[in-house]
Amino acid sequence: MGFPTERPRRLRRTETIRRMVRETHLRPEDFIWPMFVVSGQRVRQPIGAMPGVERMSRDIAAEEAKKAYQSGIPAVILFGIPDMKDAEGSSSWDDNGVVQEAVRAIKDAVPEMMVITDVCLCEYTDHGHCGVIIDGEVNNDDTLKLLARQAVSHCQAGADIVAPSDMMDGRVGAVRKALDKAGYYDRAIMAYSAKYASAFYGPFREAADSTPQFGDRKGYQMDPPNVREALKEVRLDLEEGADMVMVKPALAYLDVIAKVKASTDVPVAAYNVSGEYSMVKAAAQAGFIDEKRIVMEILTGIKRAGADLILTYHAPDVVKWIDEDI
Ligand code: PBG
Repeated sequence: MGFPTERPRRLRRTETIRRMVRETHLRPEDFIWPMFVVSGQRVRQPIGAMPGVERMSRDIAAEEAKKAYQSGIPAVILFGIPDMKDAEGSSSWDDNGVVQEAVRAIKDAVPEMMVITDVCLCEYTDHGHCGVIIDGEVNNDDTLKLLARQAVSHCQAGADIVAPSDMMDGRVGAVRKALDKAGYYDRAIMAYSAKYASAFYGPFREAADSTPQFGDRKGYQMDPPNVREALKEVRLDLEEGADMVMVKPALAYLDVIAKVKASTDVPVAAYNVSGEYSMVKAAAQAGFIDEKRIVMEILTGIKRAGADLILTYHAPDVVKWIDEDI
């Protein structure tokens, strides 16, 4: 066949027919909203590099989470910025730590919401690395115990899902074992399985005050050119007990999302990270792009690549835009 018998434009003639043949749809259920939590009451601190994103105290976080749930967003993921940092990141497993308190406040305000916690040390260590430093290096096995302790304390506070983002080897197994031992066999693990050493995390590090004080994260986060290695990380995390896997960042890694999706039977999440968000915001503020259309196109692309769930700072806006004709 071919032209003139085949004319793909017939199915693009009107918005109605385009709606009928559309292959990918964004739904509020697709989104997980990342939130930054701090201590105190009635605190809202804007983050310079991420216009529209704030650090919030737990009372505000609970109010915002409730609004988000009412708008259709089913889950939040919490990042803590503690008052105190030390070499081991001990404030990360404090039962009265910033994340633990925020989890309780959110679960009190809106029990139906799925509360996910980021499990990592970098926001809590004074050196800013994701693990403990021994002889100038991030030590893998000693870090596992601390991550496990942090994950248990998040679940004790009421977290539904824990998300280890440190990229230590064996951390999913260590967390699973510790959760089961503490009786939290029903809490899920969303593993940051394919997490790359990316420049796209720049604005987040300002938000979370977690820039490494020496060196970089290339010794534990993945090398951006690799994709077969992503499949290996996914396989290992699933063998260790991950319930869901994640690819991060999203936009420069759509091929990785597609390959991971094809290789697994678990939900695949993708993290539309801070740098991806800030670039869109900056360009929109400069008047170079149409923010709504760009955001919808980017998130649709991430979903079309294979993501079942998308972590994005745009979530509260997107759920308002889903039913608009844009
Ligand atoms: C913690 C963590 C980071 C992000 C999520 N969890 C930062 C990092 O690894 O440096 C980045 C999120 C974002 O950029 O939006 N390890």
